[in-house]
Amino acid sequence: MTGAPDRYVVIGNPIAHSKSPDIHARFAAQTGQNLVYERLLAPLDGFEHTVRNLIREGGKGANVTVPFKLEAFALADSLSPRAQAAGAVNTLSFKNGGIAGDNTDGIGLVTDIVRNAGFAIAGKRVLLLGAGGAARGVILPILEQRPVELVIANRTVEKAQELATYFAKHGPVSACSFQALPDSFDIIINATSASLTADLPPVSPKVFAAGALAYDMMYGKEPTVFMRFAAQHGAAVRDGLGMLVEQAAEAFYVWRGVRPDTASVFAELRAALQAK
Ligand code: ATR
Repeated sequence: MTGAPDRYVVIGNPIAHSKSPDIHARFAAQTGQNLVYERLLAPLDGFEHTVRNLIREGGKGANVTVPFKLEAFALADSLSPRAQAAGAVNTLSFKNGGIAGDNTDGIGLVTDIVRNAGFAIAGKRVLLLGAGGAARGVILPILEQRPVELVIANRTVEKAQELATYFAKHGPVSACSFQALPDSFDIIINATSASLTADLPPVSPKVFAAGALAYDMMYGKEPTVFMRFAAQHGAAVRDGLGMLVEQAAEAFYVWRGVRPDTASVFAELRAALQAK
């Protein structure tokens, strides 16, 4: 490796907790890419200023996290189809004087479910719990896998309905209240923020078909309340740590054109989480 390393950052507020620098440092070491990746705290009212400064200083790209994904969407000069559909941007690339916006969250989730957990989505019945930003970001990549149906359930059912209407042209998607949900889904994804407050989305245990996978986009040292509930009712469970690593790997690919090995990085992060 010669020359100054290319610079990337993750921008958020707060940002101190972000695992992205650790993940990207491992990807870079593994693939021999000459880059540095740092945390960047932006003031709540200073996202655009922070990005423009970064570009002036020669930064090549940025990941964007809470609470700036919508601002990143608005700031981008061009958007990938998946960022357009998500209505949010988590990956910015700075090139040819412009800002390109992408979203790798949804493909990160799908890769973790299909490849890492080994659960095909094609031909399956999928239930998505929640209709906020996290849910919206994963709908198009799920539909691209061709499930037989995708049902979006939300406490505020109108928000689920809006998403179902918006994505109807991409596949068989519908909306439902938690109370009126039919039985027996093969893959159940918790995209609500309920796990943050140790709450359980009010779903019947009948939503879990035999052999179902219950996926929580949150992760932590302990299984979430939703994962414990699902496991009690016979589902295989998985948390969002794999999604975190896979969305990072896709961003790395967007920037560098190289696909890192995610399994080793996932194992290292899991071990570090358990050791806490
Ligand atoms: P995010 O970016 O994490 O998606 P958000 O856009 O604020 O955050 O959306 C939060 C989602 O979690 C919403 O679907 C919300 O339901 P409402 O739209 O009805 O508010 C859902 N949510 C939050 N707390 C919940 C709880 N305790 N039970 C069920 N759903 C909850």
